[in-house]
Amino acid sequence: MSSLPGSPEGAATTGLVDTPVDASPETLAQLPPLTEQTRLEAREIMARYPQARSALLPMLHLVQSVQGYVSPEGVALCAEELGLTKAEVGAVATFYTMYKRRPTGRHLVSVCTNTLCSVLGGQRIMDALSADLGVHHDETAADGSVTLEHAECLAACDYAPVVTVDYEFYDQQDVESARELVAALRRGEKPHPTRGAPLSDFRGISRQLAGFSQWADDGSAAAAVDAPWQAGPTLIGVHLAEERGETAPPMSGPAAPSAAAEEPRETVRPSGRTGQTPGEEAADARVAAADNPAERAGAEQAHPDRGAEYGQPRGRQRAGTDTPAGTEPGTSEQGPATSPPSPTPPGKA
Ligand code: FES
Repeated sequence: MSSLPGSPEGAATTGLVDTPVDASPETLAQLPPLTEQTRLEAREIMARYPQARSALLPMLHLVQSVQGYVSPEGVALCAEELGLTKAEVGAVATFYTMYKRRPTGRHLVSVCTNTLCSVLGGQRIMDALSADLGVHHDETAADGSVTLEHAECLAACDYAPVVTVDYEFYDQQDVESARELVAALRRGEKPHPTRGAPLSDFRGISRQLAGFSQWADDGSAAAAVDAPWQAGPTLIGVHLAEERGETAPPMSGPAAPSAAAEEPRETVRPSGRTGQTPGEEAADARVAAADNPAERAGAEQAHPDRGAEYGQPRGRQRAGTDTPAGTEPGTSEQGPATSPPSPTPPGKA
């Protein structure tokens, strides 16, 4: 069992007691320290949020942008700045797969091995890259160029099988194209992703995820990220349907609301005459105006008298009911009147 590198208390603070550490001491010694500049940038992130602790996720990306993983030093910095315990920070850092538990290579290569990608060759790609790099899932090649991981669905199933490098997409890969891609990365090249922004590296993209743009201004960012893109596979079904003159069948269900029904409901103004507060009156009105069970459930959930009878002044709830507890259909007091009927065996109906 090992603790995290760089800190004798690492395992205890991040709950990573079972995580093997395979980075060499030389690699760890080369990690840049978190500086005063890092701390100032962490505070800059915190200032973006009404509640400082909401800044934890981008702050963890900031730590990764410096050290390539969420180090014990980074956990401590976030905890100090946010007034959290290291255990609380560690609990967040270990929940999300985007936060790395050991130093990451220059690039992070993620191969989707989820269902659709896998049947179209994703697992073969993963196996080939694993053999080329001499590593398995979540391990880094000896030259430090690439960390390889398998990933769950990357939300690009229409381009399966997909590989991402530092979260940029390389669509419709096969074993050979993926091997070429990784070979180019190891040579220090940055092949352009199929879509989206140009490739950075793991620390660069971590800095962007922390909210520090690599672009000089919004216009340059938009030009790079929103480059023209042909969404061919995404729209192929739509185009085929157009060619064939196919349309979706009309949806069953309630008739479309009339124009009048779509008018915003008149605001119900609390009268102040019911003995309730204006907030309670307004909440009653929202429950009464609900159009469907889901809307009503939401309105009831938000009602200040939640669980009581709506529309009753406080202090009179329940007291005035004529219905004895235990006989109201659908109330919690009601026990089952009889045992539920036994299901009829198949063929006996
Ligand atoms: S299954 Fe691979 S992107 Fe969805």
